[in-house]
Amino acid sequence: MPFHPDTLPSLAGKVSIVTGATSGIGFHTVARLAEHNAHVYLRARTAEKGAATISLIQSLYAHAKLSVLLMDHVQLSSVVDAATKFLSLEARLDGLVNNVGIMATPFATNYLAHWVLCSHLVPLMLSTARQAKEAGEPAGRVRIVNLSSAGHYSAPKRDASGMTRYGQSKLANILHMKTLHRLYGPASSSSSTTPFTSQNGEIWLSAVHPGLVLSNLGAKAKLPGLIKALIAPIRWARGVMDADRGCWTSLFCVAAPEMRREDAGGYFQRIADAKGWQSAMAKDEGIAERLEGRTGEEMASGGWVRL
Ligand SMILES: NC(=O)c1ccc[n+]([C@@H]2O[C@H](COP(=O)([O-])OP(=O)(O)OC[C@H]3O[C@@H](n4cnc5c(N)ncnc54)[C@H](OP(=O)(O)O)[C@@H]3O)[C@@H](O)[C@H]2O)c1
Repeated sequence: MPFHPDTLPSLAGKVSIVTGATSGIGFHTVARLAEHNAHVYLRARTAEKGAATISLIQSLYAHAKLSVLLMDHVQLSSVVDAATKFLSLEARLDGLVNNVGIMATPFATNYLAHWVLCSHLVPLMLSTARQAKEAGEPAGRVRIVNLSSAGHYSAPKRDASGMTRYGQSKLANILHMKTLHRLYGPASSSSSTTPFTSQNGEIWLSAVHPGLVLSNLGAKAKLPGLIKALIAPIRWARGVMDADRGCWTSLFCVAAPEMRREDAGGYFQRIADAKGWQSAMAKDEGIAERLEGRTGEEMASGGWVRL
């Protein structure tokens, strides 16, 4: 039976962060997590948008426990500031949904900002996982979800341009997930050289293609006529989902007890199908390693990585 968010257990006492929560899939991800009593930090670009999002969600679920983290992904300093603020406020982080996504000039917004955020928050997530393990909770209580897209197939082997830039950023979201899985996932104790290993608590990673979802994503992008022409008949055939349904795979991956340990590190497509179709480049460990090495160097030289 397909996953439905109504089956989520109580998430009382859990803390989550969702990026890009002011519209579309991210908005509904926050709303559903808060419906089930998680304390959710939603990331917004302005205080006004953050407050408006909270009011809207609390009009749906009056008990929703929500806080705002201000951050603009094109300014990595604001990502670091928001992560630092969060770390000063909370002693645990159970779920991180890296959801922000745009189509135009997306590499920094979709990939680099999430990479920097993770570099700051993973130590706290590992300590949360360790606490859960010591409390005798089952594995998989701590999770990170990277929103990717079937559009990752359009990533070019060399220089990107136009729409292929979006594919490139979405490929990077998958490769980043796989690197984190290798370092901190269930099998990491044998391969990781970091001080944090799965013996100390593991993080379950996943990448998600949510399906074709009605949101602001396409509205804000200048899509080529051919793509618009392709979307119209799919919409007509009801292949397009509303944004609430569009968040179900993210919810499954960040909070559903039904997710299996052996599926951690996987690419999920709608709805909660662990056997998502990945391109050859998405499966290439060499590309993942090179991307991680280059990103780590660049971000460290920019001073964005937590020491
Ligand atoms: N919709 C689909 O069919 C589809 C398909 C495959 C994958 N996805 C993926 O799903 C994710 C969510 O997309 P969506 O469809 O829900 O899009 P959306 O409705 O356009 O939402 C995007 C969110 O990202 C935020 N954002 C954009 N630029 C930002 C920046 N510089 N700093 C901080 N936040 C920023 C937006 O905030 P503002 O309100 O401030 O603009 C908004 O909250 C994306 O990663 C996308 O690639 C979507």
